[in-house]
Amino acid sequence: MTVVITTKSQGFQGVRVVSFESRLADVISKHIERLGGVPVSAPSMQEIPLEKNPEALAFGEKLLEDKVDLVICMTGVGTRFLMEILAKKYPQEKILEALSKTTVAARGPKPIRVLSEFKIPITLRVPEPNTWREIVELLDTSEKGIPLKGATVAIQEYGESSLELVEALKRRGAHVIQVPVYRWALPDDTKPLVEAIQKIIRGEVGMALITSAQQIRNVLKVAAQHGLEPEFRRAFKKVVVASIGPTCTEAILECGFYADFEPSHGKMGHLVSETAERAEALIAAKKNPYSEIKLSGPKPVSLSEKEKRRQSPFMKACFCESAPFTPVWLMRQAGRYLKEYNELRRKVSFLELCKTKELAAEVTIQAAEKIKADAAIIFSDLLVLLEPMGLDLEYTSSEGPLISGEIGSSRDVERLREVEPQESLSFVFDAIRLTRANLKPGLPLIGFAGAPFTLASYILEGGASKDFLRTKQLMVSDPGAWNALLEKLGRGLVKFLKGQIEAGADAVQIFDSWVGCLGPEDYRQFVLPHTKRVIEELPKEVPVIHFGTGTSSLLKLMREAGGHVIGLDFRVSLEESWKTIGYDRAVQGNLDPAVLFASKEVVRARVKNILDQAGGRPGHIFNLGHGVLPGTPVENVIALVDFVHEMSQR
Ligand code: CP3
Repeated sequence: MTVVITTKSQGFQGVRVVSFESRLADVISKHIERLGGVPVSAPSMQEIPLEKNPEALAFGEKLLEDKVDLVICMTGVGTRFLMEILAKKYPQEKILEALSKTTVAARGPKPIRVLSEFKIPITLRVPEPNTWREIVELLDTSEKGIPLKGATVAIQEYGESSLELVEALKRRGAHVIQVPVYRWALPDDTKPLVEAIQKIIRGEVGMALITSAQQIRNVLKVAAQHGLEPEFRRAFKKVVVASIGPTCTEAILECGFYADFEPSHGKMGHLVSETAERAEALIAAKKNPYSEIKLSGPKPVSLSEKEKRRQSPFMKACFCESAPFTPVWLMRQAGRYLKEYNELRRKVSFLELCKTKELAAEVTIQAAEKIKADAAIIFSDLLVLLEPMGLDLEYTSSEGPLISGEIGSSRDVERLREVEPQESLSFVFDAIRLTRANLKPGLPLIGFAGAPFTLASYILEGGASKDFLRTKQLMVSDPGAWNALLEKLGRGLVKFLKGQIEAGADAVQIFDSWVGCLGPEDYRQFVLPHTKRVIEELPKEVPVIHFGTGTSSLLKLMREAGGHVIGLDFRVSLEESWKTIGYDRAVQGNLDPAVLFASKEVVRARVKNILDQAGGRPGHIFNLGHGVLPGTPVENVIALVDFVHEMSQR
C-alpha cells in the first residue's frame, strides 16, 4: 500500500476535527471550518502562574548579582510570567539591565516576540523545530555561544522540565538553574473535552490536532477520571493525529499513540492548513488494516537532514572521528526479546513481517526508540536475498531457516538466478524509505546484507550448520563452482546494498557471521577477494561495517577486505583486536549478549571493561558481540545503552 501524502485534496471535506488547543481555540475552530471541516473544540489545559515561586526569585537575585551567564527562554507566555513575577520583587529596570548584559537564548518565535517587547537583546535564536536538541546544537556550534563548562545557565521552564536539556547542559559542565514559571492544569470547564472524548469513542471524529505536549496527557487524565480511558485509547488509535512538532510528537508516542503528520513549520496555521490538504490521504492511510501504528508516507530524504546525521556520534565514530560519547546500537535490537515484537509475530509470519513495509518500519523504529540506540537497523533478514535466486526459504521455530534448492555443483550454481533487487527486493527499499520518513531525523539508519561467504553457506548447507562440511567441500574441491557462486552473490549484493543506500540507509553492515569456521589461508584465497569486491563497489562516503564471529585469526585479513568499521564478536579482546586491526579503522563491539541476563551491576561492570579497552579513542561503536538473545530482559538492554552513554561522556 502506498501512502501518498503529497496529494492535495479538497480540504477536510466535512470530517469532524477535534482540536485540543486552549488559548487559541476559537482561531483554530474557525480555520478548520473555513477549510471544510467540522470543528470540535476541546480545550485541554490552562497555564497557571506559580504564585509563590522561590526558584524564580532566587534566579532574580543571582541575575542581579551578575552570576548568570545564559538565560534560555523556552516559551512566550513563560517569559512574560517570569518578568511579572520578578517585577513584584525587584525594580524592572534593574532586571532589564541585568538581562541585557547576559546571553539570552530564545527557543523560537514566541519568546522572541516577548523579549523584543521588553527590548531585551536576544543573542541566540533557536532554529526550528525548537526542541532541546536544537538548543544544545546551537550552544555547541554558535560563535556567539558561550563555553558551557563552568557556566551558570538558567532555563525558564513550563509545565514539566525538559530533563534531556538539563542533562545535556550538565554533561557539558554547566551549572543549571531550573526556573519553573507556571504549571499546567486542566481547564476550569472540562465539559467540552469530555464530550469530545465521547465523540471519539463513538467513532464520530476523523482527525485530531494536538498543539502542545501536555495536551495528550491531560486528555488521557480526563478520560481516566471518567472511567473512559481504555475505550478512548482504543478509539483514538483510529483517529488521524496531527502534531504541531517533534516535542509534541514525542509526548504522543510516550502516551502510546502515534502522530500521523507533522506540518512543515511548527505553527498552528501550518498545522491546520497542511493537515487539511492531506486529509483524504491521511484518513485512507489510517485505515491500513495491519498496524496499530500509523506512519506518514515516504518523503524525499532531505540533504540537510542527511548532512546533519553525518554529524551524529554514530556516523562520526564510523569515520574514526571523535564524538561527545560512544554511540551504541545492538545487533538484533528489534527481535524476540521485545514484547511488542512477539505480539506482532503472533499475527504475522516472520517473512510477512519483513515484506510488509509498514510493519518492518514499525518494528525498526519501535526498537531503536525504545532502547534509545544511536542508530536504527532496518528490520529484514540476510536470507531474503535467496528467494530471488530461485531458492525456497522457510523459517521454522525449531530449526531456524531452511533453504531448499540442493545446490552442490557448477550446474546448480548456473541455475541460480541473478538477483535484480529493484524488482525482487523492492520491499526492503520501501521499508527503508518509510522508516526514514518516520524515524527521528537525526538518527542514522543502517542497511545490511550477508557477506558472500555466509550467504553461500546457507545456500549450500540448506540452513544452519555446525561443521560447514558441504560449504567447505565445494570450496576446496570445485573452486570454479565456488567462485562462480560467490561472484553471483557478490553482483546481487552490490546492487542490493546500493539500492538500500539510495533508499536512505546512512551506513551498511555486512554480516559474515559464520566466516570464523575458516582458517586464514582459506579466508585469503576463497573469501577475501569476493568480500573486497563488494565493498569496493560501494560509495566511499557511506560507512561499511564488516562483521564476523570467531574471527580472531582473520582480523587483519578482514581489514584488507575492507570496511570503515570492523565488527568484533565477544570471543576476542577488543583491546588486542583493535591493536591488530590498527587505530585508523573503527571497531564495533563486543559485549557477550549472555551478560545481559546478569544483574545490572554486572552489566555495568562489563560495559566499563569494554569502554576501558577502547580507551576513549575515536572510532569505537559499542555493540554486542552478536545479536540480542531471545529472553533477554528488556530493562537490562535499556540500562546497557544508558550505561554506555553515561560512562563514555567526554
Ligand atoms: O538486527 C536487527 O535488529 C535487524 C534485523 C536482523 C534479523 N536478522 C532479524 C531476524 C538482522 C540484521 C538479521 C541478520 C541475520 N539473519 C544474520 C546475521 C546476524 C547473526 O545473527 O549472525 C543471520 C545469520 C540471519 C539468518 C537468520 N535469520 C537465522 C539464522 C534466523 C533464525 C535464528 C534466530 O535467531 O531466530 C533468522 C530469523 C530472524 N532474523 C529473526 C529475527 C528477529 C527471528 C525470527 C522470528 O521472529 O522468529
